[in-house]
Amino acid sequence: MRGGYRGHPLWWAYALHRVSGLALALFLPVHFWVLAQALSAPARLDGLLALTEQPLVKLAEFGLVFGLAVHMLGGLRLLALEWLPWTPRQKTLAALAAAVSFLVSGLFLLRAV
Ligand code: HEM
Repeated sequence: MRGGYRGHPLWWAYALHRVSGLALALFLPVHFWVLAQALSAPARLDGLLALTEQPLVKLAEFGLVFGLAVHMLGGLRLLALEWLPWTPRQKTLAALAAAVSFLVSGLFLLRAV
């Protein structure tokens, strides 16, 4: 059945895991580069840190915190699925991972604004 799983709740969990994993992989080199400016160009670092006051940057940080949390919790679900002799309630666990991630990133955003 070609493409038959697409749209299933756990297909969405897979898609979210892939998108968040790729986003984290793209973010990390930029993050390290920005932090490295502390050693080579402190004034430039100050300029970049000032950008974090922009509402759009705060929104992006919310997305990043959500992505990290949902990737970590979803990854732990997958590891449990692979390693533990126990596999039921995967949709519930995936929904829980998304809900907890939204809660954590929402609290982060409320503190940031
Ligand atoms: C925070 C703890 C993390 C856990 C528990 C975790 C767990 C996992 C697991 C279990 C997989 C395999 C999924 C599968 O079997 O299909 C995976 C895939 C992946 N992870 Fe992570 N991960 C973590 C952090 C990260 C970070 C920090 C990055 C990026 C720098 C990352 C990038 C990726 C990517 C790109 C994939 C491949 C996704 C795909 O091919 O669909 N992960 N992760």
